[in-house]
Parts: sequence; structure tokens; C-alpha cells
Amino acid sequence: MTVHAANLLVIFGATGDLAQRMLLPSLYGLQRDGLLPQRLRILCTGRSALSDEAFAQTVSEAVERRVSASERDPAHLAALLARIRYQPAALDDPASLAALCETICEQRDGDIVYHLSTAPRFYAQICAALGAANLAGPGTRVMLEKPIGHDLASSVEINEGVGRVFAEERIFRVDHYLGKEGVQNLLALRFGNSLFEPLWDARHIAQVQITVAETVGVEGRGDYYDTSGAMRDMLQNHLLQLLCLTAMEPPSQFDPSAVRNEKLKVLRSLRPIDAADAASHSVAGQYTAGAIEGVAVPGYRDELGRSSGTETFVALRAHVDNWRWSGVPFYLRTGKRLPSRCTEIWLQFRAVPYSIFGSEARIEPNALLIQLQPEERISLTLMSKTPGLDRSGLKFSQVALDLDLHDAFEQVRKRTSYERLYLDALEGNGTLFVRRDETEAAWQWVDGIFNAWKEAGMTPKNYPAGTWGPASSVALIERHGHSWRE
Ligand code: BG6
Repeated sequence: MTVHAANLLVIFGATGDLAQRMLLPSLYGLQRDGLLPQRLRILCTGRSALSDEAFAQTVSEAVERRVSASERDPAHLAALLARIRYQPAALDDPASLAALCETICEQRDGDIVYHLSTAPRFYAQICAALGAANLAGPGTRVMLEKPIGHDLASSVEINEGVGRVFAEERIFRVDHYLGKEGVQNLLALRFGNSLFEPLWDARHIAQVQITVAETVGVEGRGDYYDTSGAMRDMLQNHLLQLLCLTAMEPPSQFDPSAVRNEKLKVLRSLRPIDAADAASHSVAGQYTAGAIEGVAVPGYRDELGRSSGTETFVALRAHVDNWRWSGVPFYLRTGKRLPSRCTEIWLQFRAVPYSIFGSEARIEPNALLIQLQPEERISLTLMSKTPGLDRSGLKFSQVALDLDLHDAFEQVRKRTSYERLYLDALEGNGTLFVRRDETEAAWQWVDGIFNAWKEAGMTPKNYPAGTWGPASSVALIERHGHSWRE
């Protein structure tokens, strides 16, 4: 199938929070660097009845707020605005959708990318309207924002609705973590170096920890977040994608099928967590009032304005049951209102099999840290002799081989996830998007945990904002002789 760069991008939900924070500023970044297809037009739509001029004003404001002053340039902004048109549409009104489709027909001049950034309950009807207007055949692609469902059954329903109109290879499910430089660098580190891969298995690695910690609370998104929680909002997608890229076998090529086939195998190898394991393999938490970096912050229920049983923290002890990873625990944790913002993958190697230096010498296992946020960094800890003339045996210290990617690539502008993802979708490259079977396998595993919690009567335990989750998350790992990297 020949894929041409799209000449029309249609953004549904263009007045929403994501568009303002990420999508429009990212399009500005691509425009500024001359990376948008030359003839690309952008049709934005939302419920608000805005004129083209009023929408242009919101684009300008989004760029002003989100793009650093040194990168803002009125000429580039004007060039971006010249590509953009706005047309209001009420998604639950067929006549309004039909009018939008007419405009799309008029503007069509080659391939089209639709980006659905609305509530997912509208996805099927938007796609049906596009299909009915003959606007969903070959040469069109659709990007879908998460959440793709609330559980396996609802995700199947959404996927069926979209799949009735768009063939799977033309559906681009967004997980913005896959657009992050650091996540792609994980692939570069694993498969662009011969150093690590021979050690990347259960014989050499004792444990893996994946942490995505946020200091923010629910940021005014309480209505969405309360129906979702940390497991659905972060773990089902972002953390499981990080786990897949860490644990997968080398794909035969860096292409959509090969990469996603390998990720799928990992998801299908995840050992189910059932009611009998729920308490020893999982922890759910909810923050109460506390302080972040010395500033007092309210508890989740106060922020929400009502009582809630939704988890804002989750920690799991997961296992990938296959030859490579048999017996290696993968500890996953994510939460809101934790002490610091960081996203990292940490692999601890096995201890030396025997110490020739005697039991006095404290020799810690080596570890590899792949930090994605707040800055990209790769750090390998090694044991080194502490300088000195000790006569009672060598003394050891841990030292780090540190690679600060921010410094190493100081001259290179840091790209947003959506710059990468838009370029790929416009050019039809699905490698960094999630395939239907991956989403559904992830939901199946996560649904199993929710069922286990229900059966075992587990509910979120409180943790004060500014701490690393409930005390039981420490117990989850320490009972196996490990500790969280902090
Ligand atoms: C989103 C979640 O997918 O990811 C948010 O819905 C979360 O709740 C965000 O804050 C985190 O993304 P990032 O890129 O800031 O780590």
C-alpha cells in the first residue's frame, strides 16, 4: 500500500484542553521548522461557535503560553494560522456532522488524517459520519486519543465502531509516551548497542522498576479522572508500554508490525493477578492533604468536592512469564501528588556470584537507570575501590557512569511527543502507535486486577500528598528483599 503525506488534518476537540496544551503548540513547532507537508491544511472543529478569527486568537494564545519566547516568531505563527480553518460541530447532531463532512469534501486534496481528541463515546459516530460521506476509505487515517474504553468490553466496542469504517492499519491509537524522545531512546539503547542485550534477561537481572511519579493533582480534570484513576489513566497504557519496550524481544525490523508483534507477546505473557495474589502483588492509594515541596495541597476528595473510592496511586509486582524473564519481578508504580516528578526505568543486575574480597567488603549489585523525565539521563552504577591504603581489605564505593542527554545534545531542540506523533501520522508510519490487540491485551490484564480487588474487598489506602504512596507499597517490595529506588 503506498502512503502519501496527508494534505488535510482534521482535529476534533480542537478547543479542548489537550489541543490547547499540546496539539496546537506542537503544530507550531513543526511549522517553525518547516516540517509540515507544504500543502497541508488544518481543519479544526469543536462545539464552541467560534469564528475563524476567534479560533486563530485561541491558537495564538496557546502558542504564547506553551512555546518558549525564543522559539516564538510572528511570521511562523502567521504561516500556521494561514493553514487553519475552524468550523463548529455538535457531535451528537447528524446534520452538524454532515455539514462538517461537506467542508472536508471541499477541502480534500489528497490524503486526510483525522485526529479524534473528544470524549471516546463520540468516536464511533464520528467515524460512521465520515464513512457515510465517503471520507474514510484508502488515503485516510484516524488518530484516536486515549482512553480507548474503560475496560476490555468498552474498548472492544469502541474499536469495533471505529473498525467498521477504518481498516486497522489506518487506525493510529495515541499513547503520547511513545512519542517521547526518552522512550524511543530506550529502543536505541537496547538495540543500537551490543553491550546490554546479552545481559538483558533473568540470568543477569534481578529486578526491574518502572516509576511514573507526578507532583500534580487532578488539575481540574476531576470529572474525567474520577471515572478513571491511576490504573486506567496511566498504568493500562503508559506504564505497560514502557514495560513492553523494556521486556520485548528484539524485533526483526523497526517497523509497525515487527515492533508491535513483540510488544503484544509481552502483554500476553503477563501473569494474571488474582484475588489470592491481590494483597501481596498490588497496592491502591488515594492522597489526602499534605505538602509538595513545602506547599500545602488539599486531599483528592477535597479537590474533587465529593467522596470517592478512586485510586490516585497504584503499585504492582508483575511477572512476565516467558523464558527471558522467568522469576524477575517488574515493580510498577505511578501516582499523583508524589514527592517529585520523575519517569524512570531501573534495572538491577544480579549480585556477583562470589566475593573474593570477603564478607566485609560491601559490594552492591550493578544497576542501570534510564530516566526519561524530568531530564533524560542514563546512568550505570558500578563498584569501585575507594581510594586509600586500607590494610584490612579493599573498601568499595558505588560510582556512576552518567550520561546526561540534555548536555550531550544541548544544541538540539527538545521535541514534544506530538511533534513526533503528528509527523508519523501525517506520513502514515504507525510504529509509535498502539495496535488494537495491544490495547485489548492490556485491558484484559488490568480488568483481572480490578476483579481481584473487588473479590478481595481491596480499596485504596490513604497516603498524605508529598509521600511515596501508602506504607503497604513499601511492604509490597521489601517482603521480597528489594526496595524502591528513591
Ligand atoms: C496523561 C494522563 O495521559 O498523562 C495525565 O491522562 C497525566 O493524568 C499525563 O498527567 C502525564 O504525562 P506526562 O507527559 O506529563 O508525563
